[in-house]
Amino acid sequence: MTRTSSAAAVAHPNIALVKYWGKRDKVLVLPHAGSLSMTLDVFPTTTTVRITPGTAEDSVFIDNVPARGEALRRIVDFLDLVRARTGRRERARVETHNTVPVGAGLASSAAGFAALALAAATAYDACLDPTSLSRLARRGSGSACRSLFGGFVQWHAAHPGEQDPDHASYAEPVHDVHPDLDIALIAVLLQTTPKPVSSREAMQRTVATSPLFPSWLRSTREALADMRAALKDGDLDRIGAIAERNALGMHAAMETALPPVTYRTPASHHLLNHVSALRERGEQTWATMDAGPNVKVLCPATDATRIAAELAAASASPTVIARSGPAATLISQSRS
Ligand code: DP6
Repeated sequence: MTRTSSAAAVAHPNIALVKYWGKRDKVLVLPHAGSLSMTLDVFPTTTTVRITPGTAEDSVFIDNVPARGEALRRIVDFLDLVRARTGRRERARVETHNTVPVGAGLASSAAGFAALALAAATAYDACLDPTSLSRLARRGSGSACRSLFGGFVQWHAAHPGEQDPDHASYAEPVHDVHPDLDIALIAVLLQTTPKPVSSREAMQRTVATSPLFPSWLRSTREALADMRAALKDGDLDRIGAIAERNALGMHAAMETALPPVTYRTPASHHLLNHVSALRERGEQTWATMDAGPNVKVLCPATDATRIAAELAAASASPTVIARSGPAATLISQSRS
């Protein structure tokens, strides 16, 4: 019988328009609420998983550097999960190449674990469909489950009373989107050094100690339904307003945790104010932020080049224009 000996996959980051922030189950990575994102067409991550029979340990290289500590532990735990499902024991060599700065709130873990899920499941012959792959990727990093799919994607939270919450929490593409909707997302790269507090630690602290977390969670559940309707109508004004409010609420919640988690820097605040000022001048611009100081700006795709130049001048920082991007794909597979 021939077996797969290696597989390589590519995945793109996604940016949530309605955010995931807080787990109700840390082992299964079950979120407190659903979320909705746009997969980007920039910053792909490529990951190769090569089965290495006869070796005692997994080896992991991130951008040609051997992984250590927490980064290594998360990837080995993930491979263990794949091995447990397939009854395989051989170790593997993982090589991952990012084109996005790691740990700077630019969704490198989403693209990374989506590519790893597809490559590892293929290398170990797990034969998973896209929905099952999204459940698997979720265990590596919550937001990764959305990067398995292209375009707009919703991650279902699974109800707390659910019999099999692992099965009920997965991502799927949102197809009911107005055909004329053409959104761009401009990433303003204010800072690309790794963040001081991981999103994992930060969301845990927010859930445990922020007095604003329960109300943000309630508003997120409403935002999800409103966002679905706005996408269907192709109403960019509503999409932008819902996304910005949801992101600012998430940051307000984490900034009132004990001790506070503060990702926003003076440069982030300056840019957030600038985006509001542009809007007052009649531009369709809205900001969103993740677990880092960088600001992403939503705008009509037709205005993106002009607005990106304006944002670059206002922040003295590089900008990258992204549009809606593709699903994760397998780029090679070999058998022995
Ligand atoms: C702010 O998916 O990185 O980007 O599940 O602990 O790995 P873990 O967290 P992660 O958190 C992403 C948080 C966010 C919002 C989002 O992408 O929805």
